[in-house]
Amino acid sequence: MNLYKYVSDAVNTKLGQSVNLEVPRNRDFGDFSTNAAMVMARSAGKNPRELAADIASKISELPFVAETSIAGPGFINIKIKNDFLWNSAAAGADIEQTPAMTIDMDYGSYNVAKSLHIGHLRTSIVGDTLNRIAKFLGHKTISYNHIGDWGRPMGLVIAYIESLHPDWPFFAPNFDADKINPGDYTITATELDTYYPAASARGKEDEAFLNRAREITADLQNGHPGYTALYNLFLKVSLDMMDGIIKKLNMMPFDKTLGERNASMHLGRVEEMLRARNLLQTSDGAEIVTVRRDTDSEPMPPFMFYNSRGADTYEATDLAAIWFRKDSDNPDKIWYLTDARQQLHFKQVFRVAEMLELFPVENLEHLYFGTINGPGGQPFKTRDGNAAGLLDIIEMVGEAVRRRCAEAGKKLDDDTIESIALAALKFTDLMHDVKSDYIFDPAAVTSFEGRTGPYILYTAVRLNSVLRRAGNECTTAPAMPANLAADERNLIIELLDFERTVRSAFDNRATDQLANYAYDLCQLINTFYHNCPILRDDVDPQTRCARLYIARAAQTTLSTVISLMGLRIPNEM
Ligand code: ARG
Repeated sequence: MNLYKYVSDAVNTKLGQSVNLEVPRNRDFGDFSTNAAMVMARSAGKNPRELAADIASKISELPFVAETSIAGPGFINIKIKNDFLWNSAAAGADIEQTPAMTIDMDYGSYNVAKSLHIGHLRTSIVGDTLNRIAKFLGHKTISYNHIGDWGRPMGLVIAYIESLHPDWPFFAPNFDADKINPGDYTITATELDTYYPAASARGKEDEAFLNRAREITADLQNGHPGYTALYNLFLKVSLDMMDGIIKKLNMMPFDKTLGERNASMHLGRVEEMLRARNLLQTSDGAEIVTVRRDTDSEPMPPFMFYNSRGADTYEATDLAAIWFRKDSDNPDKIWYLTDARQQLHFKQVFRVAEMLELFPVENLEHLYFGTINGPGGQPFKTRDGNAAGLLDIIEMVGEAVRRRCAEAGKKLDDDTIESIALAALKFTDLMHDVKSDYIFDPAAVTSFEGRTGPYILYTAVRLNSVLRRAGNECTTAPAMPANLAADERNLIIELLDFERTVRSAFDNRATDQLANYAYDLCQLINTFYHNCPILRDDVDPQTRCARLYIARAAQTTLSTVISLMGLRIPNEM
């Protein structure tokens, strides 16, 4: 149940108007509070404390309210009846299903032949969790790994391979795909990883090489059979690498791995629309669309549909991808998750989509991220000073967990260590406000205490072990105990706030709300566990049963939250 909404709706109905309901940090005086009297007094020209007394007595008439009190200049505190809390918790953790939307979610979106880097971390982790949350709330999602598989980098890599293996048949004018055995031409993942950086560096110094790469890009896009065969070879290597990362990060598999190349096949459709509306202009050999508006206060360069070499641009493929998604999924919304540097790109694409009436622009959302920096606020580097790849980072966190376990004398198997490292990495990413930058410190995020993934897992492991020991004792909801201790009460109220949290995390596209809820919940579970013994011999059977019941409800909610964050709970820690 969504306790907040329940109370808020009831109060609003009772008062005949919508008032602001707050959840005080300290619940000693009330579970909820409202400044309604102060707001109403202002407009009615009345004394707020007097008005508060009137309003409070009305609120007290609500059947679930235990008492109200007035504080300060006219705040009203509301305390909820224990039996109402107990019965609501006993009713289970089911959430109300909302009218479903179909959402195309574009995240991850890795690049072929380019290694994954720290910039792909947030789009992967936050994207996966938003996807899980949306599904949990009953929405239909279609996740897209919109791979970068069609631009200049492909030409650069092919040109580079040509310089390494000029004798390979892919470059011969009479290339015949049926006459070769692709198995004879191997490119390993490690080799491929070095090609793009080398090719891109060479392209910066060597004009002839760059021109060759451009020529190859255009030929590849026009279906050159040799380049296509070679491309398919390293595409496979890249897709396998992406798969490895997706599994390593415990992400759900993508529904569609379709990116720029697929979109480019539908360019004709949007080109027709652009031409019909006379929107394409020629400029220095390129075909562009003017997207600037008089109201723009920031630079808004034109949208480039074809560049001066006639190649498909990143912008154009994104426009065509909207056409494709509308045609194949007809979604209500399309979400894009990338870092903040792509803001201008998406603004331009969305403007053209609006001009073409291709998709309601308010339903195209670019959710962009801040940057992850290393300790000291500098770009994150590996120990040897290179820009860190995604695998390096995962590796570093694993090492940090191993070091901690060794220090604490804990012997854990590799699987467990991996789960802890994953939790450390993902939790810190999820708990930071999506839009702000944050500092990533492998030592800090792997601590077993504080706002960290390991702390969350540790709480879950301990709770699971208590409940395992209890077996199937008291599995049906017992009657409410004579009294509820403050720690029991606080935990129950937090559990009844889960539904509101998930909804709010979804509505605000804010995974930090879910992660911070997980942390608050764990703290309450740990104080409850500490102050309210469950399996100890001196606990009377009725209390034991009630506490077991609360612990089970907490387990259900905590494990749901953990799975929404895409973490795995180990058996021991
Ligand atoms: N491949 C791009 C990158 O790595 C991200 C693509 C994001 N999605 C999109 N539809 N443009 O930066």
